[in-house]
Amino acid sequence: MGGKQDISRRQFLNYALTGVGGFMAASALMPMVRFALDPVLKPTGNQKMVQVVSVDELTKEPKRFDFKIHQVDAWHKSEESRSAWVYKHGDEIIALSPICKHLGCTVNWNNDPKNPNKFFCPCHYGLYEKDGTNVPGTPPLAPLDRYEHKVKDGFLYLGKAKPRGEG
Ligand code: FES
Repeated sequence: MGGKQDISRRQFLNYALTGVGGFMAASALMPMVRFALDPVLKPTGNQKMVQVVSVDELTKEPKRFDFKIHQVDAWHKSEESRSAWVYKHGDEIIALSPICKHLGCTVNWNNDPKNPNKFFCPCHYGLYEKDGTNVPGTPPLAPLDRYEHKVKDGFLYLGKAKPRGEG
């Protein structure tokens, strides 16, 4: 074996390692690029979808999660608090707005001993089923709004809360 061959092998190794290094640097940057381009994170209207919770934390029982949204309108940016009641129904994730459709109080899950497993609004005794449907004979006349949602990399992202039937 000649020395020349050794050198060229070492050179090859060098190139190969540089190549791997470059590749690794590129993959380190990729998540950031993806973050910038990902449609999940693009605004819907003037509001971005927001990462709220790891999907692992969701169960069949509705749990309340609080999060903040950044709103931008023509004049200013603002940060606002939002809440959602979230649970799993089979493979489906349901994320309901806690805002009562009667006069806008906040509903809670399973907090009225007389009406177990319902959303209850203490202001005027409004009731909703687990899927958000308003219970006839109580003040609310429409189901709770549902948040647009997406799951990405094991996390739940929520967008706007929309009246049922608007998709
Ligand atoms: S505001 Fe909820 S029942 Fe009236």
